[in-house]
Amino acid sequence: MNQRTARVSAASLLRPDQIAASWLARYRDLVDDWDAFAEALGRPLPVTLWANPGRISVAALTELLVEQGLSPQPIQGLPNALNLPPEFRAGQQWWYCVGLAHAQEAVSQLPVTLMDLKPGQRVLDMCAAPGGKTAQIAFALDNRGTVVANDISYARLKALQGNLDRLGVLNVTTTQSDASNWPSAGGQFDRILLDAPCSAEGTLRRHPSLLQRLDPSDAERFGSRQRALLRKAVQRCRPGGLILYSTCTFAPEENELVVADILAECDGRLRLRAIDIPGFDTAPGVTQWQGRVLPPELARCRRFWPHRNDTGGFFIALLEKDAGLSPEPEPELATLDGDGHDEWLEGLRSKYGLPEGYWCRYRVHRQTRRGLHLMAADHAPPAVPPAAGHGLFFHRTNVHPPKPTTSGALLIGPEVTRFRLELSRKQRDAYLRRETFAPTREQRAVHPPGQVIASYRGYALGIAILHRSGVIESQFPSRWSGQAAGTD
Ligand SMILES: C[S@@+](CC[C@H](N)C(=O)[O-])C[C@H]1O[C@@H](n2cnc3c(N)ncnc32)[C@H](O)[C@@H]1O
Repeated sequence: MNQRTARVSAASLLRPDQIAASWLARYRDLVDDWDAFAEALGRPLPVTLWANPGRISVAALTELLVEQGLSPQPIQGLPNALNLPPEFRAGQQWWYCVGLAHAQEAVSQLPVTLMDLKPGQRVLDMCAAPGGKTAQIAFALDNRGTVVANDISYARLKALQGNLDRLGVLNVTTTQSDASNWPSAGGQFDRILLDAPCSAEGTLRRHPSLLQRLDPSDAERFGSRQRALLRKAVQRCRPGGLILYSTCTFAPEENELVVADILAECDGRLRLRAIDIPGFDTAPGVTQWQGRVLPPELARCRRFWPHRNDTGGFFIALLEKDAGLSPEPEPELATLDGDGHDEWLEGLRSKYGLPEGYWCRYRVHRQTRRGLHLMAADHAPPAVPPAAGHGLFFHRTNVHPPKPTTSGALLIGPEVTRFRLELSRKQRDAYLRRETFAPTREQRAVHPPGQVIASYRGYALGIAILHRSGVIESQFPSRWSGQAAGTD
């Protein structure tokens, strides 16, 4: 075992006899191979990463990992993702902290790949935090257009915003609301993701202690919340649009039964689409459960049993709303304060030598007194519900001199031609630990004192201050840091 790995506690792993004695025993007749299923739940899950399409190719990420002595494994059906051993701590790596990759379970990456996403579509992610799928949606739309990411929890929405900032997402507005009450005035969407709150039985490989807390009343309790959410998703989907419903539980009460009830309520205005997932061995949705017989089309849902692909447990249904229905009128759009920022933008452009016309691709908005937020030029969120945030906080203007935020520095970094300071590996580690460190003689000769964008191997890391006294001060934010040094 080396420095960067930690042993997974063997004591916490589940044994097949514990699974057999648990609430999960009720799935015996649904699972094709009970012993393999029970054994798989006792194995820790591989760590799965995806390469940030805005920043690095999967080939270049693979190279970085191999240089670290790792053997990343490609995943059939997920060409942008890689598997690493369960003990690997992705969040502690320098390249993770600066948004080159995101860790997200393999099955959890699948829903977004099935949504037939294209730039120009308006997308609602109803239960979005902590935002792995939101970020996937954002990049599938080429980081342009309009995604609204909603969650009921303020704390989880903050975590989502942190992920979007780190990854450089520019086309997301966040809202905090109970999605089952999402207002009609917010308009209709081309695509809706409902990754519903659920009893999470499928996450036992990551959270073995959940087994003790599984409560037989959970499935029914979640089922009624899920129906309310899915009903709202159907209402907010435009005619001809798609709704992706997913959970990470095995319980039919939260999966096929929810979908069957909403299909029945919609009386032909909604249909289940067949799903093809190359590279994954899936099982059809169940059509009988505890005496209830469901329409045969429910078999079009897909179940992911952990032993079949060495993943967590998951469920997916893809629903299409009848294209012949009348669409609702377009919603009123949010008014964003986009004027009066030219001086700030020009100051930043000229200092860092960004190309002429650099800001044309963006929309700027002063969301708080602290500074400016940046969005894709065509980002057009609805006026209601009120937003928690728009785009990415990129320029702090209430300090002297004004300075890009870390997410701003990561964003402009690749096109900066001045005041960019390439660090050595040792300096990079000190920088990410927020330490003060010495420049080399060459670095001092080239750079006058002041603010610079620190980079490593050409990848922007964030803002640093080169002091007259001859030291470099890291401005890497503490909440992004504390982990990243010494990782290769
Ligand atoms: C399965 S998690 C979503 C994971 C997320 N889609 C991702 O990939 O990162 C379910 C989320 O639903 C949120 N939630 C629960 N009830 C909700 C409601 N009524 N409206 C909106 N969000 C809700 C929870 O706070 C939680 O963040």
